[in-house]
Amino acid sequence: MVDGRPIGMFDSGFGGLSVARALIDLNPAEDLVYVGDTGRYPYGPRPLDEVRAFAVQISRWLVDEHDVKLVVVACNTASAAALGTLRRLLPVPVVGVIDPGARAAAKATRNRRVGVIGTVGTVASGAYQHAIAALPVPIELVCGACPGFVEFVERGETRSDQVTVLAERLLAPLRDAGIDTLLLGCTHYPFLARTIADVVGRDVVLVSSADETAFEVREVLARHGLGRAAPAPGDGGGACRFFSSGEVAWFREVGSRLFGEELGAVGAVSWPDPAPVEDEASAQADPGAASG
Ligand code: DGL
Repeated sequence: MVDGRPIGMFDSGFGGLSVARALIDLNPAEDLVYVGDTGRYPYGPRPLDEVRAFAVQISRWLVDEHDVKLVVVACNTASAAALGTLRRLLPVPVVGVIDPGARAAAKATRNRRVGVIGTVGTVASGAYQHAIAALPVPIELVCGACPGFVEFVERGETRSDQVTVLAERLLAPLRDAGIDTLLLGCTHYPFLARTIADVVGRDVVLVSSADETAFEVREVLARHGLGRAAPAPGDGGGACRFFSSGEVAWFREVGSRLFGEELGAVGAVSWPDPAPVEDEASAQADPGAASG
């Protein structure tokens, strides 16, 4: 064992479970503490400074109460709103999902026309436009906000006529724009991948930030000497603990459908209204390298 402390991760709700799954699969020795802020979801329509205050509050709780060694912001909206702030304020490295998502899309595209879909907050922040423009290859980006998708996932409704109708309406402009790659720029959207794939067609490759984020976590742990030794065969992996600021029975029920039965027990957590956090537009200030 090098550093036995857990990794902390949060999202507005269930979406970050797509990142948690990739992280656990790639880093099986690590313990994880996951927070789904379902009591205050959705983040997408909220002002970015409010999301930033939530992100700081949750991250501080992870550091203070759980002694986490690294924080993963498993939410595009919170990454767009708060990554720079968190890297400045926290005593541990912080990994977001936007740069990994942009890298994953750049690796997948052949015609260099990429679509990105996300919450209203993420798309309006310009974070993906900024991250794609910073890549060494020129890529034309077509952005679309998909209000309503998150609510379907939070209800556990990942396949239905209603979600297909909404997807048809929201994704038509992207389908018609000649993209060959669609980046799911919200961590909830991988749970709607089958519906989205049906609508955009099989010629369009869907990518999410989950795998690339898991690789970045592994790399940051190694760089900071924070990793844990791989478990011996038969020893099992690290332990995962889940917390929700909303209805915990509901989190357990929907979460285990999305993540798998190993989701286990869910703890309750609540916070008072957070103090405002003064800051720069952190989407513009993502240095691309974790601090700590
Ligand atoms: N899953 C989140 C994201 O990646 C947030 C969705 C929401 O709460 O609106 O943006």
